[in-house]
Amino acid sequence: MTGDLLAGLSAPSAEALADGAVLLRGFAAADAPALLGEIRQITEQAPFRQLITPGGFRMSVAMTNCGAVGWISDRRGYHYGADDPETGRPWPAMPPLFRELADRAAAAAGFPGFEPEACLINRYAPGARLTLHQDRDEGNLSHPIVSVSLGVPATFLFGGLDRKDKPRRVRVEHGDVAVWGGPSRLAFHGIDTMKPGHHDQTGEWRYNLTFRKAL
Ligand code: SIN
Ligand code: FE2
Repeated sequence: MTGDLLAGLSAPSAEALADGAVLLRGFAAADAPALLGEIRQITEQAPFRQLITPGGFRMSVAMTNCGAVGWISDRRGYHYGADDPETGRPWPAMPPLFRELADRAAAAAGFPGFEPEACLINRYAPGARLTLHQDRDEGNLSHPIVSVSLGVPATFLFGGLDRKDKPRRVRVEHGDVAVWGGPSRLAFHGIDTMKPGHHDQTGEWRYNLTFRKAL
């Protein structure tokens, strides 16, 4: 199902990152104001919070979720759950726009029929970073990860299947969408320490939407 990734690409500004991984430049730019409006509504119900890692550290990135299940880190480990542990209520529903965009981006990258149940929403202030990691808490690894960048630019680190593989450094800007699946599904990735910046639509922040088929 990963097929020939680049053969199916329709976006002219697609940039191959690795086998099965692509950056669709500006793919979400037109939808960005509406996406940010949805983030505001979601976070009224499920506020951003800085999670604790299993090792006991507080993450610098603030997170929340929407969808049938949300990703959580706590002292017990990483896991998906239907309820926001902070409020005890189910995570807010995934807006149709989120679902459609994720499916369109996945299809443009050669992964048609992407139906994510989970959307992790990250918020980066200056100085925040996300160390190299794999997304491997999902029940089904045959589907890709779709990752939407909004606001202040960042340096996306995209490595290989071994933590020691030197990551590529890729600047990701407002509206860029990265998709990785197939042979790259378990690639190590992260975000380098955020430099101070400003974006008209997000102020000092960078937001990221990460869509996963979690179940
Ligand atoms: C993630 O790996 O969950 C987020 C990556 C990003 O913020 O671009
Ligand atoms: Fe990730």
